[in-house]
Amino acid sequence: MDKFLINGPCKVKGKVSVSGSKNASLPILAATLLFDKPVIIKNLPIVKDIKTMLNLLKSLGSKIVLSKDKKTVKIINKKKMKTFASYSLVKTMRGSILVLGPLISKFYKSKTSLPGGCLIGARPVNYHLSALKKLGMDYKIKDGYILAKTKGRLKGSMIKFPKISVGATENSIIAACLAKGKTVLKNCAIEPEIKDLTNFLNSAGAKIKWSGRTCKILGTDTLNQTEYTVMADRIEAGTFCVAATLTKGNLEIRDFNPDMIRTELELLKKVGARIKIDSNKIKITGPKKIKPIKNIKTKEWPGVATDMQSQLMVLMCRADGKSSITENIFENRFLHVGELQRLGANIQIKKNKAFIDGNTKFVGAELMSSDLRASVALVLAAMISNGKSSINRIYHLDRGYENLEIKLKKIGVKIKRLKK
Ligand code: UD1
Repeated sequence: MDKFLINGPCKVKGKVSVSGSKNASLPILAATLLFDKPVIIKNLPIVKDIKTMLNLLKSLGSKIVLSKDKKTVKIINKKKMKTFASYSLVKTMRGSILVLGPLISKFYKSKTSLPGGCLIGARPVNYHLSALKKLGMDYKIKDGYILAKTKGRLKGSMIKFPKISVGATENSIIAACLAKGKTVLKNCAIEPEIKDLTNFLNSAGAKIKWSGRTCKILGTDTLNQTEYTVMADRIEAGTFCVAATLTKGNLEIRDFNPDMIRTELELLKKVGARIKIDSNKIKITGPKKIKPIKNIKTKEWPGVATDMQSQLMVLMCRADGKSSITENIFENRFLHVGELQRLGANIQIKKNKAFIDGNTKFVGAELMSSDLRASVALVLAAMISNGKSSINRIYHLDRGYENLEIKLKKIGVKIKRLKK
């Protein structure tokens, strides 16, 4: 297993470009199963999760033609596709559950593995299943698989999600595109990645309209050929912003829409970062003294992204005073805390709230990655530690950050990948 060696402390300086969004690419790729005609998707990030999704589509029968730089893919489906999403592919990435909606909508049946648990929480798929059931899917769970079928085309319906869920909203929207009649989804997640998915589907002739958290979909018989460029990764952009603020650095972060991280930028302004916003880039300079923030709370968009929680926690470890962070989305998303404590952090957890004493001086240590976002927090922490740190199990990082060490090296971080 590869690991990162980081020699701290470092200060980031220079220019960095943001890659395509993993979380927008995954539902868009899953939705290509709805198409009879070729689809071209551009600006894919070159990360493990995208490879997994492309392998899953290939296993279902799609022809995948990647460009030389692997950022553009042309997908051509066969007339007859397989409908079996195996455990071996689904278990490595929960996002694989997003093939369920398109499979039953287009091919009227599917055997899709249940994704199983995950370190950051139970992460069930009950909202996906009950929404698809309302659209006409029959299912039973057997041997860890969802055995699903429909009597022909799905039928439009009114669905109110009991809780806001990104994945369940995406699965339902994709499925409803080819359903008969009108579907109204209420209490939807409205993260930018979901809007990217609906822009993609509308570019192919789908009839999707938004009004607040309500999404109306008028089913069509078929979707047209299309070419679509995936949005930039707002979490990667936010992570670089924290890197600049944390290390008293100075970065120009390019090729993304700053509006996608407006809430997080407000927080960074509060802690003292100086930020100049343009249409597709920002310049950010870290403050001499980082001000603490009393109650940061993760929330659905447009709130503070849960995927930014661990990075913000590292920042608060360096703040001049006490702060706290409440995690409202996932029940067990403080896995990075134990590792940060090994570097010297002073953090107490009470239920879903972390109390952080600032002004901590980190000393380099050997660290273990646990999940994607926790791992990037460890990279940030190692960047402000005195001495050498090694971060093990970085396959978690490789799932979602494109060329992280190459990008960080270019902006002044002493980082090396040790291949094993
Ligand atoms: C997506 C993102 C992930 C992000 C999360 C929240 C992708 C591939 N992943 O994950 O990076 O952290 O949104 O912004 O886009 N829940 C249920 N039953 C369900 C579905 C969800 O109880 O059927 C719960 C989850 O356990 C969690 C909460 O609802 O506590 C929100 O989860 P959800 O929004 O569905 O997250 P994901 O789509 O899995």
